Amino acid sequence: MSMLEILGYCSESGVLAEPVKMELRSWFGNALSPSSMQGMALQKPHGYAGDFEIIDRIYLRYVSSNTELANWDHFYHRQPAPRAVRNRKTYFHELLDSHSARRNPLSVLNIASGPGRCMFEWLSAHTEAPISIDCVELDATAIDYARNLNRPFLDRITFEQKNALRYKPSRTYDLIWAAGIFDYFNDEIFCLMIKRLLPALANGGELVIGNFSNLNPSRAYMELIGEWVLHHRSSDQLSALAAEAGVLPENISVGQEPEGVNLFLHIRS
Ligand SMILES: C[S@@+](CC[C@H](N)C(=O)[O-])C[C@H]1O[C@@H](n2cnc3c(N)ncnc32)[C@H](O)[C@@H]1O
Repeated sequence: MSMLEILGYCSESGVLAEPVKMELRSWFGNALSPSSMQGMALQKPHGYAGDFEIIDRIYLRYVSSNTELANWDHFYHRQPAPRAVRNRKTYFHELLDSHSARRNPLSVLNIASGPGRCMFEWLSAHTEAPISIDCVELDATAIDYARNLNRPFLDRITFEQKNALRYKPSRTYDLIWAAGIFDYFNDEIFCLMIKRLLPALANGGELVIGNFSNLNPSRAYMELIGEWVLHHRSSDQLSALAAEAGVLPENISVGQEPEGVNLFLHIRS
């Protein structure tokens, strides 16, 4: 077990006082400047954890041009959590592949669409795909960024600036995808959101919700160094929450990406 993990356990059990955490971070010096990946995570230039910009830097394996920070960025990208974030992009692409093989045209609702990199890459590889993707995103800057990135595909993508917590879809979808959002919700809101989204699933449709696993080996690094706190959940907890929202057991399954860090709750209509 690494020193960071030991400190992580201490932190979780409440025996690590805030000044100690601050002292720990101060040891990093310039390595926690916002020009580094881990510093950006901590400084939160957009005001919240997991903003579109850091997520896109994870996707693109951003490395600072400052040689003093470059190795820290390489270190960051080697961690299981950023690897899992990159893998979830592939997970989404595979979902689009399998659903579009069955539905023509395919309708998708993308909740908390962030940088829009996932859509951009899939559409770049499937330029003629008969698909429509409606995005709901709270951050107007994220929407501008994603809209600009996806300029060639705006005939098939719409963006709505809305708080997902207050959003009620006005139509049905073959696939509803929500990654990097439900693990910011407590159990009560998690369930409520499932209940709200279920009626928006088309016949044979699927709701897929990403959530970081309770076995995330990067948790201490994320929480202590980056103050990036999520509701980590096990596969059983995710299934139980779906059941609590009224989904029949036979319509629930849980998948994962190759790191086993990002779990995906699948709910079929
Ligand atoms: C971790 S990113 C995930 C982005 C994208 N789903 C992905 O996986 O690439 C989280 C995104 O959720 C958005 N977000 C956070 N809370 C939200 C809410 N209540 N409603 C809508 N979007 C929200 C943030 O603005 C951010 O762009």
